[in-house]
Amino acid sequence: MVQKYASLLSADAANYEKTIKSLEAQDYNGIHFDVMDGHFVKNFAFGPDLIKSLRKITNLLFQAHLEIENPGEYIDRFIEAGCDMITLHPQTCNIKKELRYLRSRNITTSVAIDPDIEIDDVLDYLNLIDNIIIMSVYPGFGKQGFRENSIFKIQKLKEIIRASKHNITISIDGGVDKDKEKQLIEVGCDILIFGSTLFK
Ligand code: DX5
Ligand code: ZN
Repeated sequence: MVQKYASLLSADAANYEKTIKSLEAQDYNGIHFDVMDGHFVKNFAFGPDLIKSLRKITNLLFQAHLEIENPGEYIDRFIEAGCDMITLHPQTCNIKKELRYLRSRNITTSVAIDPDIEIDDVLDYLNLIDNIIIMSVYPGFGKQGFRENSIFKIQKLKEIIRASKHNITISIDGGVDKDKEKQLIEVGCDILIFGSTLFK
């Protein structure tokens, strides 16, 4: 069964509680927090203290998508905030070390692959990954529109995972809307991350 997560980046910051209650009522599985530091991406969003406050109001799964430099320095803060899954961009850190650390803390491990990065780059450490996010936009901002070549990347990744026999879910992040849902599920996505199309 495909899972649905909501990225709050484009949601009204004055109404997160109301939004989360509405997502619960619509059977969303999780909340996707785009953590941004103004360095790795030219934008700011979602520190651990805010996530910790929202943790008190819902049992939905929390995913922290760390779009920051040196994420290893901050991982403990996001674990303490109550995140269930933590997503790292491999180019920002010693990825194998950080994934092993997340495993040791019983956090679901996740790696995000930017539009310009090849899938093959993760082959070396598939054994450490629980989830891979295919980025269908460049990290940093919502509302950029879906990059259609992401579909081929998902298909290729699905094949790689199948052949590897690892149990890894595929997520898609960026420009996801209701019209694409069917196609994304058909090509092999397990988790759809809806952003700005939810908060028009
Ligand atoms: C981009 C973020 C996405 C973003 C998606 O840096 O990773 O999660 O919020 O927003 P939409 O769905 O508007 O592309
Ligand atoms: Zn994201």
